[in-house]
Amino acid sequence: MKTVIVNASKTYEINIGKNLLEQCGSLIRAVSQAKTAVIVTDDVVAPLYADRVQKSLLSEDFSVLQFVFANGEASKCAKTYLSLLAFLAQNRITRSDLLVALGGGVVGDLTGFAAATYLRGIDFVQLPTTVLAAVDSSVGGKTAIDLPEGKNLVGAFYQPKRVICDVTTLDTLPAQIYADGCAEIIKYGCIADAQLFEWLWQPVSDQVERIIERCVSIKRDIVSEDEFDRGRRGVLNFGHTIGHAIEAQSHFSISHGQAVAIGMVMMTRAAEKRGWCQKGYTNTIIQMCQTHHLPVETEIEAKHLWETMTTDKKRSADTISLVISQQIGQSDFKKISMAQLPDILQEAMHE
Ligand code: NAD
Ligand code: GLY
Repeated sequence: MKTVIVNASKTYEINIGKNLLEQCGSLIRAVSQAKTAVIVTDDVVAPLYADRVQKSLLSEDFSVLQFVFANGEASKCAKTYLSLLAFLAQNRITRSDLLVALGGGVVGDLTGFAAATYLRGIDFVQLPTTVLAAVDSSVGGKTAIDLPEGKNLVGAFYQPKRVICDVTTLDTLPAQIYADGCAEIIKYGCIADAQLFEWLWQPVSDQVERIIERCVSIKRDIVSEDEFDRGRRGVLNFGHTIGHAIEAQSHFSISHGQAVAIGMVMMTRAAEKRGWCQKGYTNTIIQMCQTHHLPVETEIEAKHLWETMTTDKKRSADTISLVISQQIGQSDFKKISMAQLPDILQEAMHE
């Protein structure tokens, strides 16, 4: 088992290894004296993995409850959040009990937000079961639900007590959901780690533990420096500003990972044309995305992306902060005026 330690407002371990679900009871008992553990999961993950988690928790004398909701982003909403809170209250869950988020980023974000707010804060642990959750969303304490007006508009910074990543759970992921997580891994290589980027010419599944360890170590370093996202943490959004606009404009038929892949390519193409990054870098990112079966272009017109980006939450006054990777393993921000954005998006679209 590999372990990475996060030092944020809470200090906690991320454990990465095979068959950790079978040992999760003792790993959780080491950080919690709770009487009751509530497994929160979705209806795809529950039949695959909830029994294993429940058995392991029971062996450590936790009483166990399960809250299962419909899988998918649509469930990361106020309705599911309120039903979870009602479930906790009806079962007399106290502040000394514990929530166990078993699933992908949707489960983790929703459970984390419930944990941050139920009784003004109850402990939770993350058991990520998607590549995206393993390398990104389970770590760093961003929790949220969506509103009809937009994604992640309500949330809290709230760190888990432990993250336990059983890599064998990733074996049951559909190929496209696996690939979505690979886009985030490519992002880490681009922004912070040239060696990680090199590893990615080989399949992720052949080296998944060392890759997850490297990604969460990068995220740990960034979160330790800027837990509340006032500065450096923004580099984790490389490819995401354009990506979010692509997702929204496609009415979410283009997945997050696919949109981030296209976003990284587009941002880098515009940066390359303006001399903000190394020559040839766009082609390298294109080849890497294609290696991981990710798309690299969109039919959506620049003017539609621009319309969505003018409401981007990173915009302050008349400027927008773009994340640029100058070369593999390096990243920084470029603050540009909103007036420059249409030209940059045009440049980003085509060779
Ligand atoms: P997800 O949680 O919806 O999971 C994708 C699908 O995979 C779901 O249908 C799920 O049921 C299924 N699934 C999960 N694990 C499985 C397994 N082991 N085998 C088979 N199927 C499995 O989506 P996601 O891509 O994991 O996460 C996306 C969410 O994460 C978004 O809501 C996004 O906003 C959020 N996010 C949060 C952060 C953060 O820092 N908090 C970072 C990035 C993304
Ligand atoms: N996924 C971006 C962040 O955690 O800041």
